Amino acid sequence: MPLRSTESGWGALVRLFHWSIAILILAQAAVGLWMVQLGLTPEKVRMFALHKSIGMTILALVLLRIAWRMSERKPADPAGMPRWQMIAARATHLALYVLILAIPLSGWWFNSTANAPLVWFGWFNLPSLTGGLDPVWKPRALLLHQTLFWFLVALLVVHVGAALWHHFRQRDDVLRRMVAGPAKRRGGGN
Ligand code: HEM
Ligand code: HEM
Repeated sequence: MPLRSTESGWGALVRLFHWSIAILILAQAAVGLWMVQLGLTPEKVRMFALHKSIGMTILALVLLRIAWRMSERKPADPAGMPRWQMIAARATHLALYVLILAIPLSGWWFNSTANAPLVWFGWFNLPSLTGGLDPVWKPRALLLHQTLFWFLVALLVVHVGAALWHHFRQRDDVLRRMVAGPAKRRGGGN
């Protein structure tokens, strides 16, 4: 199982980053939407701490993912793919990267403006971005965190829809190679 991506498919590390971050973001969204509805109970406090810890983990993984991805080239697009689709895919992927970076950063920013604690899984403290309470920027940071999240949801509908369309309508390798990696050499000469 090659670690690096090749002309015909994604390497193991890209796939590991893609699917682990995808699963963490789905869990994170569920925890986030659920925790804000809870009454002020110890459970709410625990859920907030968990949300922040998972969120900071996602931020670290996204930074590593981007660093690794910059050292690699993308596998070739399916033969005959129209130019507008290549551009649309590139633009969507770029926007996804921007959002999965900006959402945890905005959460960290909001948490800092609220002067709330930030302890990674009960292990160690992470610093504040604002150095204390900031009542002016606090509601803006929260609005940003929420708005970016809904942008991500909308973009994911397009992203997942495109992946399924490639797989079931185009019957090409786009989804398969993100799940299983580079194609094996087939017999028959094509
Ligand atoms: C990819 C990462 C993240 C995702 C997808 C995410 C998603 C969400 C969602 C969906 C909500 C509920 C919004 C609402 O309906 O009011 C939320 C709230 C919140 N998030 Fe995040 N979040 C992420 C990262 C973070 C990080 C890193 C922090 C802090 C270090 C954070 C801090 C918060 C806080 C404090 C709230 C509660 C806001 C309130 O009091 O209403 N989030 N997040
Ligand atoms: C939170 C969830 C997800 C996020 C943030 C996300 C993000 C991304 C990003 C940024 C890329 C571009 C990779 C690169 O060029 O470096 C990508 C590729 C891809 N994603 Fe996702 N993804 C998510 C969920 C999914 C799901 C659920 C599916 C399948 C149903 C999927 C299928 C794919 C496929 C097939 C590619 C490769 C596209 C290609 O080869 O050009 N993704 N994803």
